[in-house]
Amino acid sequence: MANNPQLDANGNLKHLLSIEGLPSDMITAILDTAEPFTEVAEREVKKLPLLRGKSVFNLFFENSTRTRTTFEIAAKRLSADVINLNVSTSSTNKGETLLDTVDNLVAMHADMFVVRHASSGAPHLIAQHLEATRRPNVHVVNAGDGRHAHPTQGLLDMYTIRHYKRDFTRLTVAVVGDILHSRVARSQIHALTTLGVPEVRAIAPKTLLPSDVERLGVRVFHDMREGLKDVDVVMMLRLQNERMTGSLLPSPQEYFKFFGLTEAKLALAKPDAIVLHPGPMNRGVEIDSAVADGVQAVILPQVTFGIAVRMAVMSMLARG
Ligand code: CP
Repeated sequence: MANNPQLDANGNLKHLLSIEGLPSDMITAILDTAEPFTEVAEREVKKLPLLRGKSVFNLFFENSTRTRTTFEIAAKRLSADVINLNVSTSSTNKGETLLDTVDNLVAMHADMFVVRHASSGAPHLIAQHLEATRRPNVHVVNAGDGRHAHPTQGLLDMYTIRHYKRDFTRLTVAVVGDILHSRVARSQIHALTTLGVPEVRAIAPKTLLPSDVERLGVRVFHDMREGLKDVDVVMMLRLQNERMTGSLLPSPQEYFKFFGLTEAKLALAKPDAIVLHPGPMNRGVEIDSAVADGVQAVILPQVTFGIAVRMAVMSMLARG
């Protein structure tokens, strides 16, 4: 496999596995490609033929509402055939390996795999396997792997920020919460730093931060009142209870007291600050309902933009 497994020899997008390693030009190209699709995503318009005759297989080995559904909508709007593999009744439960499942689906003429998996690196493994078995026209999109990456979430978050704030190079952005277990946070931080955001803040208790988090280019805060001061964008994260081992927090109530986003804490940010959350939200744990449903929240627009961004990624993969 080439040095950057996501790009082909001409620099076109071949797989989307992580934002780490994507040049800023490519991230910007994806956001630009998504712009005209926003209208297609928001209104009832004719389907586009960009994936006509292609088969997109959704392989979700973990739960999902937003990502799986918006990938399906996006693929259908591009005229693809979409097959949602029901993992709970698939032959992986009889001992078939992930790569044997992939080989069988390729034999059914799969053109693209959208993969969510609890194991970090699973989409990368599939991409390597396709490369090794000489299937250069089959593409892989990572829809979230373990703690590693959730690149389309990071991209739709960048699209949302650009939509409301226009210029990345003048922003202060806070990423708040369970950064240790969050693939979303890693993708967001890589995207923000690559796009030239001058100050990315990581706000979390010490127990929910990776030990080497500063190497990602963030400024660390353990006090929300300091970290939120004068920020333009607040990106909240879900507490990833399913990935926690041991007791990293005293209680959800205690967490909410110190790291939950309330109207009082949000008032420390700039008056026109926007609030993002990737969902699913734990109301009363990481975010207060008054903020989640308030005028500064752009949480539902994020979901709608996700359709356009996923259309952009799939059309660029098919084109490349
Ligand atoms: N943000 C996100 O990945 O949501 P789902 O788990 O519902 O796909």
